Amino acid sequence: MNRIFFRFFVLVMLSITAATFVIYFAFSRLFGDPLEDIARRQAAAQIFLLEQYVDEAPPDDWLTRLNNVRVVSKVRYDLIPLADARNALPAARRAQLDRGEIVLDPASRSFYRRVDLEGNRYIGSHEEVLHAQNLPIDINQALKMEALRYVIVAIALLVPIALWSRSHWQGLQSLSRLADEFGSGKLTARSQMKPSANIYPLAERINHMADRIEDLLEAQKSLLHSVSHELRTPIARLEFGLELLDARAKDPDLSKRIAAMEGDLRELNALVNELLDMSKLDSARNLQAEPVVLGEVLRECTEMLPPSQLALDCALDDELGELELDRRLLARAVCNLLRNAQKYAGSRILLAATRDHKGVEITVDDDGPGIPEDEREKIFDPFYRLDRSRDRATGGFGLGLSIARKAVALHGGSLRVEGSPLGGARFVIHLPA
Ligand SMILES: Nc1ncnc2c1ncn2[C@@H]1O[C@H](COP(=O)(O)OP(=O)(O)OP(=O)(O)O)[C@@H](O)[C@H]1O
Ligand SMILES: [Mg+2]
Repeated sequence: MNRIFFRFFVLVMLSITAATFVIYFAFSRLFGDPLEDIARRQAAAQIFLLEQYVDEAPPDDWLTRLNNVRVVSKVRYDLIPLADARNALPAARRAQLDRGEIVLDPASRSFYRRVDLEGNRYIGSHEEVLHAQNLPIDINQALKMEALRYVIVAIALLVPIALWSRSHWQGLQSLSRLADEFGSGKLTARSQMKPSANIYPLAERINHMADRIEDLLEAQKSLLHSVSHELRTPIARLEFGLELLDARAKDPDLSKRIAAMEGDLRELNALVNELLDMSKLDSARNLQAEPVVLGEVLRECTEMLPPSQLALDCALDDELGELELDRRLLARAVCNLLRNAQKYAGSRILLAATRDHKGVEITVDDDGPGIPEDEREKIFDPFYRLDRSRDRATGGFGLGLSIARKAVALHGGSLRVEGSPLGGARFVIHLPA
């Protein structure tokens, strides 16, 4: 049963129960107790007999006729003193009894009525009350019928609502699946709802929104790519021009300046190359997956690192085996993490990898300053670097982690950072099996 319907079901049931009580109390107020009304109808024959046969007797004959009725009826008729009857009744009903009316008590299937008000029927008759018991009153059955009536109304109401909410629910489910897919980066995901569906207008709007977001992101990516690409030619021309200028410069001061400018240009070139690489990682088209021996790639990464004084330990599972992935991209992500660790570690770096049924986990630990908890997501944003004064000496553009995360995500994996047992940062790459 879907959630919308279940809530509706509970709501309808509660409303019907509340309505039953409201109806009961409103009717009691306006027209008298409905239960008593039912009881009166069920005891109509006995009341009729009393009023039209016994009461119609000549004064001296009243008791005889009552006895006649006693003989043929299953109802028990007792004459009791008025005071006893008054004691047996709640205060609200005594006035009714005093007026000479029939006072019904559906719960005990009985009624009370004074024999008469003036004492004409026999001596002391105004001091006596006729108590009829075992009347054919069955309130339970009446209640059951009433309950059944409400249940049938509720079912008649709930069946169409169930059918109606089912189609809504299915539509909402398909839209929430779409939102998940779109949110996880599949920008081409669209709703395929039929125009006859109830929530088709909503699906249509979501599709429009998705189109627009996809266009905007595409435009942004292609702008980044085009700008980076277009920058390459003037950079190359500048490099060439500076070289020519350097060859002709006689002044050593000017030569120094030119060398500094060449350094800046190299940095600019490196940035443009990084940006181009990053923009390529936005599409799975650039993924060249092949079976790769994991241990081999990880060891190659450690060999490619620039020489340093730091101790680099490797703890690679023997059973890492092969995984279908883009060797170049994985190496790029791992090397990035190792180079970062080299920049920030105090004395020690640990590269570890394990494999289980879920996939492979590669961790890079260091004993450096670590990453404060509130910065742990931000460092994956492009150009984001912690504490710029600390980082100035370490160089870099702040693109490494963002590129590494995109590279891992292209494989359906994830890259996160946490605290390391060594005291610094621990980066964890998870690749699904
Ligand atoms: N192991 C680490 N320990 C402490 N801080 C780190 C570590 N790795 C990354 N960081 C922080 O995260 C920031 C972003 O890292 P990222 O690799 O994206 O950029 P970068 O290394 O500064 O530059 P790039 O990698 O582009 O050359 C770094 O500037 C640094 O402040
Ligand atoms: Mg880096």
